[in-house]
Amino acid sequence: MKTYIITGGAGFIGANFVKYMLATYHDVQLIVLDALTYAGNLGTIAKDVDGKRCIFVKGDICDSSLVTGLFEKYPVEVVVNFAAESHVDRSIENPRLFLETNILGTQNLMEVARKFWAVGKDDKGYPSWKKGVRFHQVSTDEVYGSLGATGYFTETTPLDPHSPYSASKTSADLIIKAYMETYKFPATITRCSNNYGPYHFPEKLIPLIIKNILEGKKLPVYGDGKNVRDWLYVEDHCKAIDQVVRFGRAGEIYNVGGHNEKQNIEIVKLTIDTIRHLMETEPAYRKVLKTDLSNVSYDLITYVTDRLGHDQRYAIDPTKMKNELNWAPETSFETGIIRTIRWYLENQAWVDEVTSGDYQKYYEKMYSNR
Ligand code: NAD
Ligand code: DAU
Repeated sequence: MKTYIITGGAGFIGANFVKYMLATYHDVQLIVLDALTYAGNLGTIAKDVDGKRCIFVKGDICDSSLVTGLFEKYPVEVVVNFAAESHVDRSIENPRLFLETNILGTQNLMEVARKFWAVGKDDKGYPSWKKGVRFHQVSTDEVYGSLGATGYFTETTPLDPHSPYSASKTSADLIIKAYMETYKFPATITRCSNNYGPYHFPEKLIPLIIKNILEGKKLPVYGDGKNVRDWLYVEDHCKAIDQVVRFGRAGEIYNVGGHNEKQNIEIVKLTIDTIRHLMETEPAYRKVLKTDLSNVSYDLITYVTDRLGHDQRYAIDPTKMKNELNWAPETSFETGIIRTIRWYLENQAWVDEVTSGDYQKYYEKMYSNR
């Protein structure tokens, strides 16, 4: 039995990872540590938390005594750090929170792990580490900044973050690098492109567009809609993280992406087309439509004021993952997007649950003056 702390396991990717791990392995114990911010929802993993193989702890990754208590109570061998403030637009409104959680929280987790996992010193004075331990940071391609029309981010692309969010994730990566070099701390980092799939909070492009289409609301496209993101189905990301944690070399960074670049406007149009097609061919879905089917059209598209400092294009070169760890995405975008849209049509209760708090206030604040 290997014990993991999964931080941020009630959020989008973290929850998918919890489900993936429980479905794939019988010999893992997962301690999910999550502060349940607006982006975390216990209901998402309620069926997975059984108090034995999967234990839930509500708490902040910045809380040193709480994290220490977890290491005292459980034989933690792996930490996978998903917990973060993750939304770029919110980081433009309130940068400070991003620095606290994303930088100091990450450092706090490493510091506690360092104390519990160091078992002596080698002849040069570096700590020796307990066998089998690993700290894994779930980072982002946004640390590399923005690309022009051509080229890809590799692991050696210079760091050049632009938003407060990406600067905070870059800072966390640099602190981890410092621990790896100063203490030979056994860490790995993955830098992934945009994920999509089930349990994605509807502040992000794809779930927001789906929600608005179903409600007959305008679809806010920033700028000219030609910014490019490199989309990856969330389960493929989960498999990549698992592969890196088990077989990746400590001290290494791995880029994760799917060679699946799309302009935002293409995504929006494809989502409209897909929902319309599903409603026409499978009328049972119409019960979740809060508007007339004739409104499900490109007329909903509304170009709005651009995001400040909006990165133009992200595109990952995942060659290292392929060559070293034999990982490649398994889900084509065509399959993944239909699966995702169907999931949202069939799980409107989840959408209602996660948007029952301050979501409406947030939405009005972000979009009313755009
Ligand atoms: P999310 O916003 O959906 O979930 C974040 C989770 O972290 C939530 O459950 C939240 O409650 C929890 N959390 C926030 N602050 C916390 C704190 N101080 N202590 C404990 N828990 C806290 O985010 P996501 O989209 O699932 O992203 C997960 C990770 O993956 C993040 O680190 C993000 O930077 C990274 N990432 C995301 C994407 C993407 O496309 N979504 C791509 C690459 C990397
Ligand atoms: O690249 C990885 C990153 O992907 C992660 O590190 C972040 O945590 C994650 O949030 C995501 O960041 P983006 O900013 O790329 O995702 P978002 O869904 O917010 O936006 C995707 C694109 O769509 C981006 O170019 C902005 C645009 N957009 C977004 C929203 C919410 C719109 O045009 N309209 C919108 O309403």
